Amino acid sequence: MKTIVVFGAASAIAQASARLWAEEKPRFVLIDRSVDRLKIVAEDLRTRGATDVKTITTDLSLLEKHEDIVQQIHTTPVAIYLVAYGTLGNQKAGEKDFAVARQELTTNFISVASLLTEIINDLSIKKATSPTTIAVISSVAGDRGRQSNYIYGTAKAALTSWLSGLRNRLVKEHPHIHIVTIKPGQVDTPMTADFKKGLLWAKPEDVARDIVHAIHKKRDVTYTPWFWRYIMLIIKLIPERIFKRLTL
Ligand SMILES: NC(=O)c1ccc[n+]([C@@H]2O[C@H](COP(=O)([O-])OP(=O)(O)OC[C@H]3O[C@@H](n4cnc5c(N)ncnc54)[C@H](OP(=O)(O)O)[C@@H]3O)[C@@H](O)[C@H]2O)c1
Repeated sequence: MKTIVVFGAASAIAQASARLWAEEKPRFVLIDRSVDRLKIVAEDLRTRGATDVKTITTDLSLLEKHEDIVQQIHTTPVAIYLVAYGTLGNQKAGEKDFAVARQELTTNFISVASLLTEIINDLSIKKATSPTTIAVISSVAGDRGRQSNYIYGTAKAALTSWLSGLRNRLVKEHPHIHIVTIKPGQVDTPMTADFKKGLLWAKPEDVARDIVHAIHKKRDVTYTPWFWRYIMLIIKLIPERIFKRLTL
């Protein structure tokens, strides 16, 4: 039976992805920090076909818990790990108080890097050889720092870079481990509830379909929806002397 582990399982994007996978009747291990929301997600996936659902409630920004969490998952092979938790913190507060910025960097980058290290170490110790995909949600925000959200953007840039290095390392060391970097644009979820929505906004279900497809096709990096690849290409091409004067 296929096992799928979801970090940040109560996220809107993760829930939409898990619903697509539920039809295959897998076993899920769901991790997030709200016990009540995890219960709702677990029940939903059971009714949609999941064979078994285990939940782990924890704050994933607490690095010291990661080794234990990975041990609690305690099952190999895992077909898919989806890393979907994250916070879009208060940029202005982080500019004034570095403790706020540090928490944002810890949740969105440091803790994910720590978790990935524990997962890879665990797979190495168990000498796992069955195909495993580790899909991690980064963001287009990591492609270029902007005044409106460079703290979150920096965390996602570091995450994207970490994943690139990890993929490059594992291609020979553990060729059965597939690392895919997911870069969503703007998605209408609780994380962006306060934002005014426009034409470029996607639904979590659209992003979920792209995540499932990218895993199936063994993509390395995927922008979702697809047009963000071209938007970010243009944004990256703007010379810094012009870019620094833009209000973005
Ligand atoms: N929405 C967008 O426009 C967008 C764009 C690009 C990338 N992304 C990325 O996509 C991923 C999913 O986001 P989403 O939009 O689906 O947001 P969401 O619905 O707000 O989900 C985020 C989830 O992560 C959980 N979480 C946050 N910090 C945690 C921690 N320390 N420990 C455990 N769980 C934690 C949240 O729990 P709480 O509710 O308790 O905080 C929430 O369940 C994130 O990595 C996000 O950065 C989103």
